[in-house]
Amino acid sequence: EKKGGPVVDTKELVGEDLKDLKNNIRNLLGSGHPMLDTVSKYYFQADGKHIRPLIILLIAQATSNAPKKVAVSVKDNYEEMDRPISVLSDFYIPTLENAGHSPDSGAKSSTLTEAGSVNSIYLPKINPTDQTYILPTQRRLGEIVEMIHTASLLHDDVIDRADKRRNLLSANESFGNKMAVLGGDFLLARASVALARLKNHEVTELISTVIANLVEGEFMQLRNGQVENGKNRNGSMTTFEYYMEKTYMKTASLISKSCRSSAVLGGASDEVSDIAYTYGKNIGLAFQLVDDMLDFTVSSDEFGKPTGADLKLGLATAPVLFAWEEYPALGKLIKRNFDQPGDVEMAWELVLKSQGLEQTRRLAQIHCQRAIDAISQLPESMARTALIQLTEKVLDRKK
Ligand code: FPP
Ligand code: MG
Ligand code: MG
Repeated sequence: EKKGGPVVDTKELVGEDLKDLKNNIRNLLGSGHPMLDTVSKYYFQADGKHIRPLIILLIAQATSNAPKKVAVSVKDNYEEMDRPISVLSDFYIPTLENAGHSPDSGAKSSTLTEAGSVNSIYLPKINPTDQTYILPTQRRLGEIVEMIHTASLLHDDVIDRADKRRNLLSANESFGNKMAVLGGDFLLARASVALARLKNHEVTELISTVIANLVEGEFMQLRNGQVENGKNRNGSMTTFEYYMEKTYMKTASLISKSCRSSAVLGGASDEVSDIAYTYGKNIGLAFQLVDDMLDFTVSSDEFGKPTGADLKLGLATAPVLFAWEEYPALGKLIKRNFDQPGDVEMAWELVLKSQGLEQTRRLAQIHCQRAIDAISQLPESMARTALIQLTEKVLDRKK
């Protein structure tokens, strides 16, 4: 038994829906250009954790038996959502042939006008144990969010010059920077089409804001809060506050606004949507804090991506910022982004010697508790229990 009752098997709850995830995404991604097709689907071959879609589906269930603002009709036009996306058909002008041009890719367009249709089941599936359910739009939201997340990883690996992701060669390493960037753009574009088809303006706005926040977070990290155009971007913020805001932007915004969107698609009351948002925000912050901690404590093989990477990238994350309070000498190194010979090694040693890693864990734990406090306000359900237990896994995760 765990806190919050017996361990709930999330596979039993939402495993069926998650199983379709990769297939549905592949169908949303079909491109007539074989290489673009390969690059944009590349990271989906690996076994991702699919933690974001998992949370979205569980929030869908956990809010389905909570107070509603709007009644969502089961007869909503879900077929429209699954209409195949055209491929290469828009620009194919047959008159080119008459003009003597070879229609190259156009020639194939008769067979490639449409990507495979997405075979989701139109009706919400009721969980027999507690009558909670997931709507098709909420399942699609999980797919959209996983696509946006993966787009950001394609771009991130270019920026970070990473050679590895999910134990595969990174996309930039396999296909080069140009294709990796365009593959990410394509994922974003197709996610946008799918988002438009949810026909929910509030959700469109939330998820579009997420994309902006991802870029803002990455920019905050790039500049590391230092002077820009003669102005200190830190302003009145402390370095730690700046780090937490950056962390919200690059990680927690996606999870929090996805959780809110999942609730909104289910017609939840404002109060319930706020609960979903608060849960997502805090589990997102905890998730990134733990990620920044694992960068110091886990080997690259275990993690499936480079570790010990942040210092080398010039980044001072929570463990370093906490260690700085104990070892003021770190301040100088942080300011110059660990760019002098020996800086990375010295910072590494001081962090391991300090309480920084333990303090980071404790802060993550505080955010996990806030997530639990929020979600506990929802009516009881298996999904609610699963969401509580998930926060505990965030703290214990090794990869
Ligand atoms: C991983 O961080 C990266 C992110 C969470 C977001 C990156 C965002 C961009 C590159 C902006 C562009 C956004 C879109 C939507 C195309 P990390 O480098 O700390 O983690 P890692 O260890 O997994 O590489
Ligand atoms: Mg990276
Ligand atoms: Mg990065």
